[in-house]
Amino acid sequence: MEKQRLIERILELKEKRKAIILAHNYQPPEIQDIADLRGDSLELSLKASKTDAEVIVFCGVYFMAETAKIVSPKKKVLLPVGSACCDMADMITPEDVLRLKEAYPDAPVVTYVNSTAEVKALSDICCTSANAVKVVGTFKEKQIIMLPDMNLARYTQRFYPDKKIIYFEGFCPFHHLLTPEEVLEAKKGHPQALFIAHPECRPEVIDLADRVASTSGMLRLAKELPNKEFIIGTEVGLLYPLSQQNPDKKFYHPAPEKMFCPSMKKITLENLLASLENLEFEVVVEEEIRIKAYNAVKRMLEIV
Ligand code: 13P
Ligand code: SF4
Repeated sequence: MEKQRLIERILELKEKRKAIILAHNYQPPEIQDIADLRGDSLELSLKASKTDAEVIVFCGVYFMAETAKIVSPKKKVLLPVGSACCDMADMITPEDVLRLKEAYPDAPVVTYVNSTAEVKALSDICCTSANAVKVVGTFKEKQIIMLPDMNLARYTQRFYPDKKIIYFEGFCPFHHLLTPEEVLEAKKGHPQALFIAHPECRPEVIDLADRVASTSGMLRLAKELPNKEFIIGTEVGLLYPLSQQNPDKKFYHPAPEKMFCPSMKKITLENLLASLENLEFEVVVEEEIRIKAYNAVKRMLEIV
């Protein structure tokens, strides 16, 4: 089917199904263009929960669709490609969480939303890359467990020298791959540019950052700051919304081939159409787990 016809069919079926299409900031351009909402995973899930859509089609990875289901249990949530997974979320199992809880029984468990529903359900509270520092600051305990991203945990640790953050050694393979040498090379090539790093990057890269921000934080900073050039330390897909929203500014990437998350690029117009046609692939979360995971998300929302 030619592209224009595909788009028309998707829009027709979206109406028929009373569906809303969400696209994470890293999705391919044609998916971001057709989406009703674009953004980071949590903001998309929360916005979708406030609409009267009956079906949520989440163009992203599995944990994002699960998060949408956690906050919208009455809506049908679809992930157009069932195998679109997050390598970081899949690094940790519920047994790993239980082992850490047993080893540090008094430490609250703070879990990044980039995690499975089962792992969220075993946590005291969730956090995002944008609010992790604030969330950890609400605890009086001196020891805090942070899951599953060791880089986000080590970044948060910088703000609390009087606390000990115990972390699981998970990481996003694509953010973790960025090296300080690549950043220095990009800085050499673009000496005027401001370097913004995602907190999923390794500490040596964070040390070189002018700013550290989540994907939605990067979009906000690019708009608000007077700077005209930026080096972007996150998955390469973010360059599309950045350039689209700031046509007068320049965005450079220090390692575009390495910081490419294949799972994030699995969704196409064809499988998005098939998803709406066949109502596939539905994401379900067992109710007992959903309620516990929801409580961890809700607790975060109450304090941020
Ligand atoms: P945010 O969009 O929350 O910054 O997350 C980045 C990410 O890696 C999502 O997979
Ligand atoms: Fe997961 Fe990293 Fe891909 Fe984000 S970029 S979905 S954290 S593997």
